[in-house]
Amino acid sequence: MISKAAASECFVYITLPGATSAVTAGKFVLERNQRGDPLGRFVYGRSYLDNPEAVPIDPVELQLSEKTYDTVQRNGVFGALRDAGPDYWGRRVIEKYAGKAQLGELDYLLESPDDRAGALGFGLNKVPPASQRKFNKTLDLETLQNLADALVKDDLPNDPEAPQVQELMLLGTSMGGARPKAVVQDEDGLWVAKFNQPDDRWNNTRVEHAMLRLALECGISTAESRIATIAGKDVLLIKRFDREKTPKGYTRARMISGLTLLRADEAPAMRERWSYVILVEEMRRIVAEPKKDARELFRRVCFNALISNIDDHPRNHAFIAKDEDWKLSPAYDLTPAPLVAQERRDLAMQCGDMGRYANAKNILSQHARFLLKEDEATIIVGDMKDQVAATWYETVRACSVSESDAETIRRAFVYEGFSL
Ligand SMILES: Nc1ncnc2c1ncn2[C@@H]1O[C@H](COP(=O)(O)OP(=O)(O)OP(=O)(O)O)[C@@H](O)[C@H]1O
Ligand SMILES: [Mg+2]
Repeated sequence: MISKAAASECFVYITLPGATSAVTAGKFVLERNQRGDPLGRFVYGRSYLDNPEAVPIDPVELQLSEKTYDTVQRNGVFGALRDAGPDYWGRRVIEKYAGKAQLGELDYLLESPDDRAGALGFGLNKVPPASQRKFNKTLDLETLQNLADALVKDDLPNDPEAPQVQELMLLGTSMGGARPKAVVQDEDGLWVAKFNQPDDRWNNTRVEHAMLRLALECGISTAESRIATIAGKDVLLIKRFDREKTPKGYTRARMISGLTLLRADEAPAMRERWSYVILVEEMRRIVAEPKKDARELFRRVCFNALISNIDDHPRNHAFIAKDEDWKLSPAYDLTPAPLVAQERRDLAMQCGDMGRYANAKNILSQHARFLLKEDEATIIVGDMKDQVAATWYETVRACSVSESDAETIRRAFVYEGFSL
């Protein structure tokens, strides 16, 4: 149960590359500075720094060092720690469970379960707890879906002791994002399960699955996905790319979001750093194969413009490290937006000299930052445009998107302004 006084410090645990249980990496303290603003401090533990296997928990902000790091960004929470915590959906679950709105930032980290993205964990004990081995089974999806539905509809009793509210935590609240979701396991490993919502304008689950397929057909590396239909409702299962099942348990990859790599946050003043051009520069500094990942990111910008995925915010991009080396994660959360505007649509991040404009010339204007020659970049954009135009319909239908849903999303694909 969540304590009354908001926690102000905790230990940060990490599952090291190849390991299946955690060690203590350091300590995080959240306090207030003289102006009363939240101030976060992090310091690596002595034994961690002495561990020859130790890796930084974040390659940008928290290099292995004896110094005490501090930040006032993101309510005092370092990007890598924030990435390991819940977003809108998970916070909603935790608040219902705790019986109160608006908990402290640290409470969200401490109260969210161990199936969080990446390799980090949080706790009040110096020694990490034993690794959790039990996760929800895909068989439980019906129960999970019903719980998620009840929370979305606000159909749950306002009583933290009620069995249904207690069960909410089964959803696995640590994964980020706003849509209802849970984490489930089957014999192949761990999956993120995303549910449809009653007010969705089309069958999101099937359409998102189809967009992952279309992206793959456009040469983009994507998270593996499939649809499970449980009691007449579709659930999208996306294979976790940050966990690998081994006979000893799950290994975990470190993971940071694009937001962390950009050293940005969600405040409006920070939006000018929401930029693919800056992201690719920052990414090239940390990944093992800059050329490969820069080209891949270029493909994703182009794809997002071609399907009007205007929800391509920096948390919908991630970077992972299964061992020492960092790389761009597979693509996920691809959603078309069938907007009315035909001349100009904007992505969530700047993608060229003309700002956020989802337009071929704009995307091509910064080809060199993506380590592409002009002619190479032009070929990628042209080929992908032809591919999406020619195949989106048959791909979505092959992924069992209904004819009427396909018509509803038609305007998202290869809109006029892309080629102006
Ligand atoms: N296959 C995956 N493996 C590991 N982590 C993942 C995977 N897919 C998503 N994630 C993580 O979970 C978070 C939430 O997933 P996703 O973006 O699909 O949800 P969402 O609710 O649709 O998000 P949004 O709020 O952007 O609409 C992502 O930001 C990412 O950190
Ligand atoms: Mg998302």
